[in-house]
Amino acid sequence: MTMTQVHIDTPVQPDAPAPHKMTARNVDVFYGSKQAIKDVSIDVDMDRVTAFIGPSGCGKSTFLRTLNRMNDTVSSARVTGDIRLDGDDIYSPQMDVVQLRARVGMVFQKPNPFPKSIYENVAYGPRIHGLAAARGEMDEIVEGSLKRAGLWEEVKDRLSDSGTALSGGQQQRLCIARAIAVDPEVILMDEPCSALDPIATAKIEELIHELRGRYAIVIVTHNMQQAARVSQRTAFFHLGTLVEYGETSEIFTNPREVRTKDYITGRYG
Ligand SMILES: Nc1ncnc2c1ncn2[C@@H]1O[C@H](COP(=O)(O)OP(=O)(O)OP(=O)(O)O)[C@@H](O)[C@H]1O
Ligand SMILES: [Mg+2]
Repeated sequence: MTMTQVHIDTPVQPDAPAPHKMTARNVDVFYGSKQAIKDVSIDVDMDRVTAFIGPSGCGKSTFLRTLNRMNDTVSSARVTGDIRLDGDDIYSPQMDVVQLRARVGMVFQKPNPFPKSIYENVAYGPRIHGLAAARGEMDEIVEGSLKRAGLWEEVKDRLSDSGTALSGGQQQRLCIARAIAVDPEVILMDEPCSALDPIATAKIEELIHELRGRYAIVIVTHNMQQAARVSQRTAFFHLGTLVEYGETSEIFTNPREVRTKDYITGRYG
């Protein structure tokens, strides 16, 4: 299937205002005394793909990680400001971080399947979250997640093989299946295609099209064509600040800021 044949079945009319799934207000992130993110405010919409773009080191990954508190794992990192998921402050002491990361899943740059079977890679999350009461239910979750990740046909006869024995592109789809299996609301992807060849990349982009509508998706990418193809909203970061955020078509055809224009036309980055 080529990209142009992808049918996007979205529950939201293209022009209808989307509800904000996540909101960030005045977010600063420090590593020790060094500030990596400066006063960023942004909304992440349901049923939309949001692309984060900008030169290396501008803070895309740092900001992405604030959205599911992955920065908690970096001892020098400190996050201030207000970040909400469905209106709830995700940095409040009442927030269960394990639960948060199930609701806001993450797919990393380098595919990182567990050194376990394909089946177990997908079943692990639902098991620790108690999502399947019986083995049959778990089989259904595993099959459904692999189908939605576009991997089922390739692995259905080898579910007990190790996840690490798959190709890079298959491993990345397995990681997406693993993220989907716990029924998240938001999926964060940090350069999910940068280690993949063009065919595997096209599969992931197709998948993002298909997943859109079920989840709010945020994708970091260095590939401008990819941002233009997969996203409806684009955020341009530069030196830790959010320079411009808007409809992808606007950002790419009619950016307001000269820094955005210089970046998307390849004048620096
Ligand atoms: N764990 C860390 N400890 C200290 N500084 C860090 C850490 N992670 C990132 N930084 C710094 O924060 C800034 C932003 O880094 P970040 O990785 O968020 O950028 P990026 O936009 O994702 O870059 P790239 O496109 O290269 O992935 C950089 O100056 C980086 O050196
Ligand atoms: Mg990064």
